[in-house]
Amino acid sequence: MQKDQILQSRQTDQPLDVLILAAGLGTRMKSARAKVLHKIGGLPLITHVGRTAMSLHPRKIYVIVGHQATEVENAVKEEFGGLAEFVMQAEQRGTGDAVMSANTYLENSDSLVVVLSGDVPLLKAETLDSFIGEHQKSGAVCSVLSVRLENPTGYGRVVRDDSDQFARIVEQKDATVEERQIKEINSGIYCFTADKLFSALARVQPTNEQGEYYLTDVPELLLADGEKVNVYLHHDPREVYGVNTRAELAEFENLVRRNTVRKLMLEGGVTFIDPSHSYISAEAEIGRDSIIYPDVAVEGKTSVGENCEIRSGTRITNSNIGDNVTIKDHCVIIDSTIESNCSVGPFAHLRMNAVLEENSVVGNFVEVKKSRLGRNSKSMHLTYLGDATIGERTNIGAGTITCNYDGKNKHQTIIEDDVKIGSDTMLVAPVRVGKGSITAAGSVVTEDVPPDSLVAGVPAVVKKRLVERNDEKKG
Ligand code: UD1
Ligand code: CA
Repeated sequence: MQKDQILQSRQTDQPLDVLILAAGLGTRMKSARAKVLHKIGGLPLITHVGRTAMSLHPRKIYVIVGHQATEVENAVKEEFGGLAEFVMQAEQRGTGDAVMSANTYLENSDSLVVVLSGDVPLLKAETLDSFIGEHQKSGAVCSVLSVRLENPTGYGRVVRDDSDQFARIVEQKDATVEERQIKEINSGIYCFTADKLFSALARVQPTNEQGEYYLTDVPELLLADGEKVNVYLHHDPREVYGVNTRAELAEFENLVRRNTVRKLMLEGGVTFIDPSHSYISAEAEIGRDSIIYPDVAVEGKTSVGENCEIRSGTRITNSNIGDNVTIKDHCVIIDSTIESNCSVGPFAHLRMNAVLEENSVVGNFVEVKKSRLGRNSKSMHLTYLGDATIGERTNIGAGTITCNYDGKNKHQTIIEDDVKIGSDTMLVAPVRVGKGSITAAGSVVTEDVPPDSLVAGVPAVVKKRLVERNDEKKG
């Protein structure tokens, strides 16, 4: 669904605020890190929720933070731009208390408050939009989004009255044996009229099994006030699963990953040899007719062009790969660019803005750091290229090292076009090898090599002027 459609299905005169609960530690994660910071698809849970919230074009997004507040803020600050208001809940006394932390902002507001949980990452914007649309149509002051679960264990149950209308929510721990049979559960996603929400919240008491202030008590209180409370039963329970344990985190990762790969196959025309062993970030793009072998990880904002072949054991992170590129087995490519028609690996390592220009080749056990390899150039075996700029049609022999570090500073190596660097050459930077030159095998190049020269030795000296020889031949 397009964003403008999303706006259309809502009444736009009532301001909309989103409130995201994200203060809890998530004890069942057995982690020192706050639950909402754990990642699926390479992004923190809170970021997934934040993106869904943003799609509603809210007036403000209130994020209730507590555990690792600064880290949680940092995870979504950029995403939210100026819309975010981070509210501290110093002590986690329950979901009701969490919402109460935002009362100074919202208690007198007539806005529509949409409450989301920071640990429910798969909710779709479309679902939320129809939920809000239904809520507004119903004239209720509170709507609860529910789903039916085959195994509702752990969730709050939606109790309905004799005429099948909403009666209350009861938490697992407070439920009777009969209530625990109920399969309709509270997703933890709600719409409220702001002032009604806060007037009811003020009356919530922690008189329950957990001694917490439950947000789930609010709908019942509103009902008792004679207000209308609505339940919206959603058909797809997977969207509202909350992450509570590492096992669930892994299940979600799997689900997200399967969806990403499936979409790339069905819509993107990408071949996966084994979809269940392919790890592609939701933010990555892969072009048509590319083939991804098992155990490839494509992370972050990576783009891979058309007709590429990526072999097993390779990891590509935040990089751009052109068309018709072959990446052989077990390469690590981070923050780098590989232009079209290149071949890389096996066992190559590209990092820190390495750039391979069109048609160039990097072979086995070659590391390229902060370096540019020009068009039609090759570095095939056992080489370190660091802080180097290499021209076109240049060949870097086996075992070449750019000695870029003198113990204090990094220095540049420049190798111009049409150069042949002999096997086992040490290029002691800063150094420049002129166009058309050759270094003999085993040279230690400590001084600039003029164009069209052959150097050899330790340290390397000019042995021959190649152009003169050519001129002599001509004469
Ligand atoms: C809650 C609901 C339950 C529902 C389930 C759906 C209550 C009392 N129960 O239970 O009915 O079925 O969600 O997933 O609301 N949080 C805070 N501050 C707190 C406590 C929690 O910010 O003091 C945050 C947590 O970080 C989390 C969210 O609120 O993001 C939900 O809290 P959690 O403890 O996971 O609630 P559940 O027990 O899952
Ligand atoms: Ca939960």
